[in-house]
Amino acid sequence: MAIMINGAAVAAPGDARVSLLDLLREQLHLTGTKVGCNQGACGACTVLVDGERVLSCLTLAVQADGRSVTTIEGLGSAESPHPLQAAFIKHDGFQCGYCTPGQICAAAAMLREAEAGMPSYLTADLTAAPVLLSRDEVRERMSGNLCRCGAHNGIVDAILEVAAEHAA
Ligand code: FES
Ligand code: FES
Repeated sequence: MAIMINGAAVAAPGDARVSLLDLLREQLHLTGTKVGCNQGACGACTVLVDGERVLSCLTLAVQADGRSVTTIEGLGSAESPHPLQAAFIKHDGFQCGYCTPGQICAAAAMLREAEAGMPSYLTADLTAAPVLLSRDEVRERMSGNLCRCGAHNGIVDAILEVAAEHAA
């Protein structure tokens, strides 16, 4: 089997101890995915596996064998940005920029989760689908991705704009 990474087949590493984060950054040089805490606390390493957000620092690369991984490089490009990438630029959704790839990958999955009716801690109606994303809902659902500088409100604004476009 192989891991599909941004549409290209990559052999799973022979060493089962290699994390997905290290495979991406150290072996494939896909350095858009960032390493922050390396212990599951910051969200900087978030990528999509079969469309769901995962912390690549806590995921073994072999766990992705036979699955499809999308990193920030696969989500969009300078010529053809993902709507979230465009919205982050428009709303100044980054200051350091280091947390940004993880924020955007997490937001892409989060929008699909809300659309599918997956509740958060704040969702009042557990049967609602899609869940209407209030500012507090977005903040709660993105709470696994830390922004330590001044961009948090811009991040939330960008996500809310894309969520509204989805709902339209
Ligand atoms: S580097 Fe993975 S959660 Fe911080
Ligand atoms: S934009 Fe990266 S920590 Fe705030």
